[in-house]
Amino acid sequence: MFRHFRSDVLTVFENDPAARSRFEVIFTYSGVHAIWAHRIAHPLYRRGWFTLARVISQVSRFMTGIEIHPGARIGDRLFIDHGMGVVIGETCEIGDDVVIYQGVTLGGTGKEKGKRHPTIGNNVVIGSGAKVLGSFAVGDNSSIGSNSVVLREVPENCTVVGNPGRVVRRNGERVGDRLDHTQLPDPVIEMFRAMQKEIDGLRSELDEMK
Ligand SMILES: CC(C)(COP(=O)(O)OP(=O)(O)OC[C@H]1O[C@@H](n2cnc3c(N)ncnc32)[C@H](O)[C@@H]1OP(=O)(O)O)[C@@H](O)C(=O)NCCC(=O)NCCS
Repeated sequence: MFRHFRSDVLTVFENDPAARSRFEVIFTYSGVHAIWAHRIAHPLYRRGWFTLARVISQVSRFMTGIEIHPGARIGDRLFIDHGMGVVIGETCEIGDDVVIYQGVTLGGTGKEKGKRHPTIGNNVVIGSGAKVLGSFAVGDNSSIGSNSVVLREVPENCTVVGNPGRVVRRNGERVGDRLDHTQLPDPVIEMFRAMQKEIDGLRSELDEMK
């Protein structure tokens, strides 16, 4: 456990140009504090001390605004920047050298049991506010844009943006048409349109019956 402490601090310097001194990182970086609390809670959870592990995780959440379930497995050199609002679910697995920004949820859809949270590969960046929901994998070296909602597997070396998230770049090459930012997919509007169409159809059937 203690071998990680040094690399957790050095990871901040690699990822955050604003970090000035080790003292500052150790005492003021909530992402680092949440990871340290998890490094205590996770072994307790694995030994069956579920309630104590949960208490540590919840105290950490109160102090940092970051909720990491003690069952989640996290790799080396995870960097959680700013952190507030981050939620990492029980069956989530995170590889090495991952960067997570504030407001990210690595959660379930509510439909699955057992393994229901994502598996994040190595060297993945998950932008602020992104939601990654379900028990699929996000491949190594992929990036998820801010505020994306990802519901499906992401291959390696991809960039995913939008809601629902779709791959716009793979191995450095653009995928599909250029993204039209005035026409981002909006599933709520699409649902209302489908309902309107159905109501119109029912109305005309009623008119015919009269
Ligand atoms: C996705 C991201 C990692 C960039 O990855 P990239 O592989 O370099 O992708 P690009 O910048 O080439 O963008 C690819 C396309 O997606 C679009 N795009 C990028 N991020 C987007 C987002 N969050 N939402 C919607 N579209 C986005 C780009 O405009 C571009 O569209 P185009 O091809 O039509 O021009 C970056 O945009 C991002 O969101 N980073 C997170 C940073 C963050 O959360 N910072 C918080 C600091 S406090």
